[in-house]
Order: sequence, then C-alpha cells, then structure tokens
Amino acid sequence: MIVCTTIPDVRAACHNARASSTRPSLAPGLGLVPTMGALHEGHLSLVRAAKNRRRVVAASIFVNPTQFGPTEDFSKYPRQFDRDRRLLENEGVDILFAPAIDEIYPDPAVTWVVVEGLSDKLDGRSRPGHFRGVTTIVAKLFNIVEPDAAFFGQKDAAQLAIIQRMVQDLNFPVEIVACPIVREPDGLAMSSRNAYLNPEERNRALVLQLSLQQARQQFENGETIAAKLISAAKEAFAAEPQVALDYFEIVHPGTLDPVKQITEKTLVAVAAHVGSTRLIDNLVLDPHPATTL
Ligand code: PAJ
Repeated sequence: MIVCTTIPDVRAACHNARASSTRPSLAPGLGLVPTMGALHEGHLSLVRAAKNRRRVVAASIFVNPTQFGPTEDFSKYPRQFDRDRRLLENEGVDILFAPAIDEIYPDPAVTWVVVEGLSDKLDGRSRPGHFRGVTTIVAKLFNIVEPDAAFFGQKDAAQLAIIQRMVQDLNFPVEIVACPIVREPDGLAMSSRNAYLNPEERNRALVLQLSLQQARQQFENGETIAAKLISAAKEAFAAEPQVALDYFEIVHPGTLDPVKQITEKTLVAVAAHVGSTRLIDNLVLDPHPATTL
C-alpha cells in the first residue's frame, strides 16, 4: 500500500496505479473510500465493496475540521493512524491518502459546495454547516483522487442523499455506491463515536435501534401513517430519559422531506445524544420489496 500525505503524491500514485493495475476481471478504474479514520468493520465493508468492484482501491483518512461545529468533538475525535493503516493494508487497499489539515486547507476555505434544501434537514438542522463541510471535502477529494466510483455507508443516510445530489447537480463522473449498515451483534450501528460510550451508555444506546425495529414491526403489521410510528418511537425514548432524542423522522430517502404516509421506499432516521455522544441510525421501509425503485 502506498501512503501519500500530499496532493501531488496522491495524484501521481492514482495515475500510476490505474496505468499498471492487472486485475482484468474487475470493472476498470479506481474506487475511493473516504473516511475520518478510527476504522471499524463498517468502514472495512466499504473497502471490501470497493475491492469487489474496481481494479484500484484508494482510501482516505482525514478528520475534516470544516464539518465539525465549534462545540463539537473535532479535537477529541479518535485518531489511531497506525492501526488504521494496518487494517487498510490487510484489506489490500492500494493507496492511502492521509493529508494534514494544511495540505487540504492551506488557507481558510472561502469556496464551499452547498447542496441547498437538503443540507439543513435531519443532521443538518441540528448541526448547522455540517453538510457544507462534508460536501466541500468530498468534492475536493473527488477532484484530487478523480475516482470512478466512491463508496459510502447507508449509516449516514442524509450524507449519502446529499452527496448523490451533489454528484448529479455538478456532473461529477463518479458512481456513488451505497453500502449497508454494519452492526454490532446486539444491533447497535457501528460508529467511531461508540468508543466514547461508557458501559452504561453503551447499553442505553440500544434504544436507537429498538425504536427503529419497533417502527419496522408496526409497519409490517400494517401501520403506514408516519405520525403513528413517530409517536410510538417517542414513547420508547421517553422510557429512556438518559437518552436525549434529537430527531426521529420519516422522510423521502432522496429529498429528505417528511412523508405523511408510507407508500414507497421511505427512510426512517433517528439521532440522539447518549450522554455527550451524538449517535445516528436508520432503516428503509419498503411497501413493495419485490420491485426495484
Ligand atoms: P466516517 O464517519 O469515518 O465514515 C466513513 C464512511 O463509513 C461513511 O461513508 C460512513 O457512512 C461509513 N460508515 C460508518 N459507519 C458505518 C457502518 N456502521 N456501516 C456501514 N458504513 C459505515 O462519513 C464520514 O466519515 C465523513 O463525513 C466523510 C464522508 C469521510 C467526509 O469527511
């Protein structure tokens, strides 16, 4: 695995790897897995998806300051570069791009990529400016690495919808591949932020997953009115007063607009603070699972 910390080096490494790769059975081109490190099986599942689909795989590790609010966890975000590098090497990643902040933002950014209308929904409502930071860094990574495909987790469903819309609106020649949520054995969605939880909080965090499973169960029993599913979820959170619900929303997976009744593929998304740790999770309800939408 080639490890690059500068933009010219990673450009050259990607160029050379494309030219010399000899894995002819796979779709040509380069797959990129952008991450902020502190890697877990969720991230590695994206790497494996990329390895299965593209001849060359690059990953990036960059804790992007512009997507953290002033009171958020940028400074304490877990950083474990040596471990991450080993994990990516073991998965057969060809190129790792791990720039310093100055390499990416030599001057404070004044040019931003903003997906209007979507960036202030769900997490964007509680984290003003967050998605502006995400779309700006992802656009920069796309311009630096020039991937043919980029792999993102369904775990961050709003992020995925916003990046898909950015790629569509700005004509990035990049296939966006959505990968399923990887969970702990008890159902908690894997997250780098789970490391912040003490054992008691780790237990309480299960209410996110439980509220989603309850909504799924009610939907499978015939309930399609979003307000009914939402009020049942709010009751589940009321029974866990140490967990502060941020949102439990039922929305269109592309526009992130609330839906009143579930008649097509619909995203059920939840965010909550467990102690000082903000966690998110989601699932998709599909009234017509046999059809592809
Ligand atoms: P990060 O939180 O490190 O996540 C990197 C990628 O891993 C994202 O696409 C995320 O959706 C995916 N991921 C995280 N947990 C997952 C899980 N349990 N199952 C499946 N996929 C999972 O998301 C970011 O970083 C940043 O916003 C980034 C896109 C890198 C821009 O800075």
